[in-house]
Amino acid sequence: MSAPPLLEAELLVKHFPLSRSARDVFAGRAPRAIHAVDGVSLTVHAGETVGLIGESGSGKTTFGWLVSRLHEATGGTLRFDGEDIGDLRGKALRSWRRNVQVVFQDPVGSLDPRLRVWQIVSEPIRAQGEVTRAEAKERVAALLPTVGLPPDCLYQYPHEFSGGGRQRISLARALSVDPRLIVLDEPTSALDVAVQAQILNRLVDLQRERGLAYLLITHNVAAVRYAADIVAVMYLGQLIEVGPVRAVLEQPVHPYTKALLAAVPVPDARRRRMRYRIGGDIPTLIDPAPGCRFAPRCPFVIDRCRTEDQALRPVEGFPGRRVACWRAEEVGAIAPETLLASGETPPGAPVS
Ligand SMILES: Nc1ncnc2c1ncn2[C@@H]1O[C@H](COP(=O)(O)OP(=O)(O)O)[C@@H](O)[C@H]1O
Ligand SMILES: [Mg+2]
Repeated sequence: MSAPPLLEAELLVKHFPLSRSARDVFAGRAPRAIHAVDGVSLTVHAGETVGLIGESGSGKTTFGWLVSRLHEATGGTLRFDGEDIGDLRGKALRSWRRNVQVVFQDPVGSLDPRLRVWQIVSEPIRAQGEVTRAEAKERVAALLPTVGLPPDCLYQYPHEFSGGGRQRISLARALSVDPRLIVLDEPTSALDVAVQAQILNRLVDLQRERGLAYLLITHNVAAVRYAADIVAVMYLGQLIEVGPVRAVLEQPVHPYTKALLAAVPVPDARRRRMRYRIGGDIPTLIDPAPGCRFAPRCPFVIDRCRTEDQALRPVEGFPGRRVACWRAEEVGAIAPETLLASGETPPGAPVS
C-alpha cells in the first residue's frame, strides 16, 4: 500500500459568525455567517508544491490557517500522515505544530518589531520545549545562511531589513523546527520582481534539499507556474478546479479558471489574447445561495447551475483534473482563443 498523503483536508469548513444586532434577535432572524471556506477537499503529498490561487477574499488565507490548525474548523476532517489531527489539543497540538509552519501574508505585521532576529527565528523552537538562549542562538545562526541571511545579523531588528530580508527572516522562523509542510501565504507579493525571483528560487532549492511540501497561496500565476506541481483554484470559499499545474494553465476547464487566467498577461506575444472580462454580480459569502457560486457571472450558465451544486469531479480527457462544473466537458473543449473569437465574452466592465 502506498503511503497516505502528507496532508488531507476533507470537506473543510470555516464559518465566521456575524454578530446579531438586537433587531435581528427580536425579529427572530437566524444567526448569519461568512462562509469563508465551504467544503474544501485537497491533498498535499510529501515533497510536493500545491499552488492555491483565486481572487482576494476567496478564502485562501483562511484555508491555510485551517490546515495549520491556527483556526478551529467549523466542520470537515483534517489528516496529517493519515492521522486525524482535527481534535488535537494542548500539549499534543503544540508538539504537532512543528510539522506545519506558516509564512504569513504580511511580512511587516507578522514580525514583532521589538524582537531581535534570533528571538523571532527561534520562537517555534522555544515553543516546542526547553532550550537555553545559547542553544537557540546557535541554531538560528546555523539556519540564517540557508535562507541567504548573514549569520551575524542575530541581534538586528526587523526594521533594519528590506522586504526581501524580512521575508527571509519569516522563512527561517518557519524552517527552525524542521517542518514537513510550509504554508506560504503570498510569500512574494510585497516584494519587487527581482527579489521575488530570488525568494522563489531559494524556496525551490530548500524544498529539494529538505523534501519539504508547500502550500503556495498566491495570486501570482507566474510563481505557481514556476514552483508548483499541482494547482487548486478557489472561488468564494470553494475549490472549482484542481489539477497538474501545466495542464491547468494551458487548458483550463472551469469557466472561472479560464477567466482568471485570461486576465493574466501572457508573455508570448503570439498567444497574447484580449483580456477576458468577468461581469455580473459577485455573490456574497454571507449565507450563500445554493447552486454554483460562479453562476451569476458565468457565460455558460444553465438552469441547473443556479439550483444544484456540482462537487469537484474528474473530467474525461483531462487526466488528474477535478472540476466543479456541470458543463466541464463542453467548456473544457473550447480553446480560449475560440472562446473570445466567438464573442462569448460575458458582459461587464473590462478587467484592467
Ligand atoms: N477572522 C475573521 N473573522 C471574520 N471574517 C473573516 C476572518 N478572516 C477572514 N474573514 C473573511 O473570510 C473571507 C475570506 O478571507 P481570506 O481567507 O482572507 O481570503 P483570501 O486570503 O483569499 O483573500 C473574507 O470575506 C474575509 O473577510
Ligand atoms: Mg489572503
